[in-house]
Amino acid sequence: MRHFLEVDDLSASELIEVLDSAAEPSPEPVLAGKGVALIFEKPSNRTRNSSEMAVVGLGGHPISIRGEEIGLGVRESVEDVTRVLARYHSVVGARVFDHSVLEAMAKVNEVPIVNLLSDLAHPCQALADLLTLRNRWGALRGRRLAWVGDGNNVARSLTLACGLAGIDVRVACPAGHELDPVAVDGARASGVEVTVTNDPAGAVEGADAVCTDVWVSMGQEGEQADREDAFAGYQVDEALMARAAPGALFLHCLPAHRGLEVSPAVIEGPASVVFEQAENRMHAARGLLLWLVRKRRQT
Ligand code: CP
Ligand code: NVA
Repeated sequence: MRHFLEVDDLSASELIEVLDSAAEPSPEPVLAGKGVALIFEKPSNRTRNSSEMAVVGLGGHPISIRGEEIGLGVRESVEDVTRVLARYHSVVGARVFDHSVLEAMAKVNEVPIVNLLSDLAHPCQALADLLTLRNRWGALRGRRLAWVGDGNNVARSLTLACGLAGIDVRVACPAGHELDPVAVDGARASGVEVTVTNDPAGAVEGADAVCTDVWVSMGQEGEQADREDAFAGYQVDEALMARAAPGALFLHCLPAHRGLEVSPAVIEGPASVVFEQAENRMHAARGLLLWLVRKRRQT
């Protein structure tokens, strides 16, 4: 049984299969009469709505469940929750604080588990981001992407995804907020160049895409003031974008904070593809579900 807890659960060729599935104009209704459970321990706009509509697009019935309703590991053990949901649903997705909860769910191995964001990774976002870049650029291989800001869950998954897709990555993070070395090594092992720096201008120089995310992720609200100090100088503004390659794109997974990690002019400007990314969350989720269900049929 296949799970999707991080991008590197897929091989490079499987990643392309998932992106191709996302682009299928009339996907087979592989979830007709079936359920998909979507658990959310944290707030969500894009992930919940895109996942629900992806399930609907495959003929299935999504059931979104708030963390406190189900009490993962509190009301009932993570394993028992998973074993029960496996009796009703074809796939279970979960957004959790602690990535190890997803690992425990996957270990049950009775239903495919999809990571809808954890403290460690946001692989569904990375799929949507690659789909967005592919729609804009055509071929991905040989391009260069700059990440400016927090070396967080979104940065980790996107770096691994770039590795599999053949995109070089330059990551600029302040000291103490660097990208997980597992992602750096993983992307390098895939054969791309990964540069790690504390210099946003150097990272963005000549890049084909510039990406950022919030400075304060869900669960880190108590660190707001310290983080705003640490990330001073990391805002993606027009001066920084001017260093990128001509026609470079600006990406942000949203929600965004104008005036902090991105200037209003950049997010509203011609380089910005943030709402294409948001739409592509739905297409990417549909492609992933299609791929997971087909894989399960083959086993
Ligand atoms: N980008 C993203 O995951 O958004 P939500 O937190 O609204 O789901
Ligand atoms: N890094 C952010 C992403 C939100 C979609 C967080 O984890 O809150």
